[in-house]
Amino acid sequence: MIKWDIQHFAEVTSTQDHALAEAHNNVAQGLVILADTQTKGRGRSGNGWTSFDGNLFCSILLRPRIEATQAGQYSFLTAIALNRTLSEMIDDSHTVLNKWPNDVLIDNRKVAGILLEAVLDSRDVEALIIGMGVNIANAPEDKISVNALTPRPETALSFLNAYLAQLGEVLDEYDREGFSGLREEWLDHAFGLSHSIKARLPHETLEGVFEGLETDGAMRLRLANGDIKVIHSAEVFFE
Ligand code: BTN
Repeated sequence: MIKWDIQHFAEVTSTQDHALAEAHNNVAQGLVILADTQTKGRGRSGNGWTSFDGNLFCSILLRPRIEATQAGQYSFLTAIALNRTLSEMIDDSHTVLNKWPNDVLIDNRKVAGILLEAVLDSRDVEALIIGMGVNIANAPEDKISVNALTPRPETALSFLNAYLAQLGEVLDEYDREGFSGLREEWLDHAFGLSHSIKARLPHETLEGVFEGLETDGAMRLRLANGDIKVIHSAEVFFE
């Protein structure tokens, strides 16, 4: 199992930038940058990520021996570990679901977002940076926080430790058995599977039914004419 090395900062611009710089400095995998606050937190699609007090902001450095085409699978591994962590902390009257590609929802409200960035060496992955923001103590409007649902309040650090234990197990499973069982686990807790969605791509918006995942984690969308469109990256809206 990977040995984690958590480095805790009061304030950084973005834990992603910090971890990326360390990746370029040849730091070994297992480094975790944790910050109490970020002044320039980054979300997906060029969005920002606000630092609400008491929430978790971290970036995890991995160096898997994979090709660039497999990198996307890691956002599913990350979400599975997050789903397992949350499901152990809160009682089963609440539903923890994975939203493609890598959000986690509780009772259909976002509790965490993941930003995966890769450093590539031609066709191979040199490093992966898994950025994760989890609403622990506070949530923006219409989102949800962990501590609103847990019997005992978590801190960012206690949550991170529980999460890293789960992530270590998921990564070991992936190394031993590959992606297909984990992909099934992700689908068992998928938000909006078999429902109509809209996928906004750079030059078009497609409508169809979310049918499942390809082996690399891409979304299978069944269009009205019956064709299957494979979507690797898009902003997705569930109806
Ligand atoms: C999303 O858009 O849902 C992804 C949000 C990812 C935010 C986290 S917070 C820690 C890490 N550092 C960043 O600047 N972003 C990620």
